[in-house]
Amino acid sequence: MKALVLAGGAGSRLRPITHTSAKQLVPVANKPVLFYGLEAIRDAGIREVGIVVGDTAAEIQRAVGDGEAFGLEITYLRQDAPRGLAHAVLIAREFLGDDDFVMYLGDNFIVGGISELVDHFREERAAGGGPRAQIMLTRVSDPRSFGVAELDGTGRVVGLEEKPDHPKSDLALVGVYLFSPAVHEGVARLKPSWRNELEITDAIQWLIDQGHRVDSTVISGYWKDTGNVTDMLEVNRLVLESVEPSVEGEVDGASELIGRVVVEAGARVVGSRVVGPVIVGAGTLVRDSYVGPFTSIDRDCAIVDSEIEYSIVLRGASIDGVGRIEVSLIGREAQVTPAPRVPKAHRLVLGDHSAVQISK
Ligand code: G1P
Repeated sequence: MKALVLAGGAGSRLRPITHTSAKQLVPVANKPVLFYGLEAIRDAGIREVGIVVGDTAAEIQRAVGDGEAFGLEITYLRQDAPRGLAHAVLIAREFLGDDDFVMYLGDNFIVGGISELVDHFREERAAGGGPRAQIMLTRVSDPRSFGVAELDGTGRVVGLEEKPDHPKSDLALVGVYLFSPAVHEGVARLKPSWRNELEITDAIQWLIDQGHRVDSTVISGYWKDTGNVTDMLEVNRLVLESVEPSVEGEVDGASELIGRVVVEAGARVVGSRVVGPVIVGAGTLVRDSYVGPFTSIDRDCAIVDSEIEYSIVLRGASIDGVGRIEVSLIGREAQVTPAPRVPKAHRLVLGDHSAVQISK
């Protein structure tokens, strides 16, 4: 069995963060979303992985390398433009050969991995006459921004629709699919959809229309970049809740760490109180501050004379002398400083789609 990981696409839903960074590299508990997927694939016993990359190819390759660090053999497959998930399968035809494969969308986050799902598919297929495809589904409140499945009473998939205006169920397609090579014929026959993409949902529908068996599993514990920071903070919280506490950096005698706290090598906590779960990334300084639960601070940041809780701070950002910050996502190299006491005017340099709150 092989894996095909999709790491192209524009990431318009997580702007402004994805203006300057691939959406698959957005960190959850200081680790890119994509890495969790690669680890889940490895843990499912798969070694050969094709990663489909687009405009952000260089950045993805820099982060992932040849895969050795993950125990994987990685082949990069270049997609010239985001032409759809089924297009990615099309260009990976040679890499995939006649093997069964798992397709994994690099911006999807699945709590608990995929080993069980992959094992189940393997067993069914080895027994002969098993399913030609298996999809993962999750219940969502607004299915209109997903592929949506309709099931019969036994969990077999009878119909699929991509981003329907009037969804037939609340079961959304999660970005992990298991395929037998039968899918390639369906993919080769596809025509571009209304959004001008080759849709994998249409290829799966083709399998169903041919009378092939397509199975489904309903899971909980799923996250995707559907656009709001609230969801991202929530998945960050979920992952932080199970981090193993460890202190490899320096914590001075005037500081206090409570609960699950990770202080990575080269980080310094000085005169501060840190109440976990919290991660303080390598090279980061926390001084004269309070860091509260569910906060991830990435590498090389500075939190000085401030309070922060339930937030994500990306690499190289600094927060200095600003009182309390909560429920926030601070981008890379961002600087947060106090406004002058009697401001005549606010001076702002804001990225496209930024959201700021300013006191009057
Ligand atoms: C894609 C699929 C959709 C699926 C979703 C899950 O949507 O087309 O069926 O539910 O991934 O992440 P897209 O990310 O292209 O909007």
